[in-house]
Order: sequence, then C-alpha cells, then structure tokens
Amino acid sequence: MTGTRTATAIAHPNIAFAKYWGKRVGDGNFPAVPSVSVTLRGLSTQTTVAFREGLTGDRMMLDGAVADDAVLARMTAMLDRVRAAASFALFAEVTSANDFPTASGLASSASGFAALALAASRAAGLDWPADKVSDLARRSSASAARSVFGGFVELDAGPVAPTADDSLAARVVARADHLDLAVLVCVTSEGKKSVASTAGMRATAERSPYYATWLAEAPQIAARLKAALVAKDFDALGELTEASTFAMHASAMAAGVLYLRGATIDALAAVRELRGQGVAAYATMDAGPHVKVLVKTGDVPRATAHLAAVQGVLRVLDARPGDGAHIVDGANATAAASAT
Ligand code: DP6
Repeated sequence: MTGTRTATAIAHPNIAFAKYWGKRVGDGNFPAVPSVSVTLRGLSTQTTVAFREGLTGDRMMLDGAVADDAVLARMTAMLDRVRAAASFALFAEVTSANDFPTASGLASSASGFAALALAASRAAGLDWPADKVSDLARRSSASAARSVFGGFVELDAGPVAPTADDSLAARVVARADHLDLAVLVCVTSEGKKSVASTAGMRATAERSPYYATWLAEAPQIAARLKAALVAKDFDALGELTEASTFAMHASAMAAGVLYLRGATIDALAAVRELRGQGVAAYATMDAGPHVKVLVKTGDVPRATAHLAAVQGVLRVLDARPGDGAHIVDGANATAAASAT
C-alpha cells in the first residue's frame, strides 16, 4: 500500500446493566464474566486515522492536545494488529475528539476504542464485518466491543484459557427502540477517576476475598437480566442492574478499590426516594463516583428535578439508546458496523 489511506468513524459510549469486571488469566483482554449494556446517543467520539508514508511513528491528537504516552501506547497496540492484518507497515496520524467532557462520568475508552477500531480497519482497507471490528476493539478495552453495536448489546465471557487464535465479539440483544428508557447521568465530580478500570480489576482479582463470589454470581445475574430485557420487564431489569452494580462494587471495595464518594451515596438515596414515590428509577455506577439512573422517558422531568437537587450532583445529563459505530466520509455517513 502506498500514499495515504484515511477513514473517519463515530462511536458512542455505553452503560453496562450487567457489569464486566475482571479478566481471564492470559493475554488478549478476555472478560471473565458476561456483560449486557445499552449504547447511548447524543454523546460521541469522532476519530480519523490516516496511514501515511514518511511518518517515523504513530501520532495522536486527543481533544486538541498531543496524547500522553500511556494513551499512545494503547492506541499503537491496536494499530499494530491492524497493520499485521493488512500486511503493511505505514505509521498513522490519529485525531480523536469527544463531544462530551472526559469527566462527564461516561467512559470515553469504550467510544474511543470502538471509533478507533472501525476507522483504523477501514483506513487500512480491511472491509471487516462488525463482529471483527468488535473483537479488535475488545482487545484494547472490553467495554469498547459493545460500543461497536447500537441498542442493547451483550458480550460473553472469554474462554477459560484463551489462546492467540481465540476471538470474542459483542452482539446485539435488541434494537435501540426495544425499550422505553432514559439514562440520567448524575455527574458528581469534575476530576478524573482515581483508579482506572483495568487497574481496579487487577487489584480486585489479586486482593478481594469476594472476587470468587463475584465470578460465580455475575453470570447468573447477567442471564436473568438479559431475560428481563428481552421480556421488556423494566423493574426486573432495574433490580438486576442494581444487583450487578452492588456486587461489583462490593468485590472491588473489599480490595480497597473505592469509587464511591459522598455525593454518590446521596444520589443513591435519592433514587430510593423516587422509588418510594412510585417512580421506577434504578441506579448503576461504574469505575467512578457518578450515578447513572434508569428511568422511563415519561419520568425524566420529575426524576431529573429530584436528582439535580441532591447536594454534590453537579449536573444531570439525559442520554437515550442509540446507534453503533459508523463511518463518516465527508458529507456521506455510511452505517457500517452498526447492526441496528
Ligand atoms: C465498570 O472496558 O474500561 O465500566 O478492558 O481494561 O479497558 P478494560 O476495561 P473497561 O472496563 C469497564 C468496566 C465497567 C463495567 C462495564 O462497562 O461493563
């Protein structure tokens, strides 16, 4: 391949109902438990990859600034896989921007690696189906495998002893319009999270006395949760989302990995108050202090007002189910990897 090969992709963050927390032993970043999530619209990462002659290394601009070494190393690992698959050696110039602040409480790694996987594979001339793009994204960040697809998405646990030949992609459980759902993101802090999820998972696996219990429980919670989702049973979905969240955080906390802050607990109490008033509202938290609240769209004004009044909740974002990753070519946006 000669000259410049370029592609631009957009992807959106996702929120897990059934949490991925913990990895299989061995290489390949295979999750130890299954997860179920919803991909959100409104918030986006847009990434352009240009493989060019004459570059002496990969370069990356992230939100207008040169990416730090850790981010660049993670990106280069993915580009190396793409170069190997496409059998060429050109370095790339990557430009990526989020239209939501990194501190918004929504993981930018999921949308970031989903957009990068689609843009890089397409720029390299690999016309991969969505499941291969999802597998590529998973190797960098497992939650990113789910953002390749729109709507409601699942990712299985990886094989117990993964080999280099194994692959694992996310898949669609239901389209974005399957369930009447809004996710209210209660932002409780502007700072970066204290322990990144990869490190938090490692500490939990190494030190938590409850990690084995989490590994045993998580698949059962995920299976029941998926059934509730398919059956459109909003309350069962919400209760199982809370069960997954609290089990994940309890296992992490027992290893000293603490993501919750005072405002997190106060927002959780407010969610219970809403339920006490007859509003179907259920909470979830990821590797950070923010609380995401599942409600029906008709309850958004009332729930937003109640949550925004909690001391320590800085703002409440209203996110809805949306599309998977797709290619953007100038004025022409082609639905590519999205299966919805
Ligand atoms: C709590 O996908 O960020 O958000 O694979 O190490 O990059 P890596 O981890 P990541 O973990 C996400 C953890 C979570 C739960 C979830 O999204 O399922």
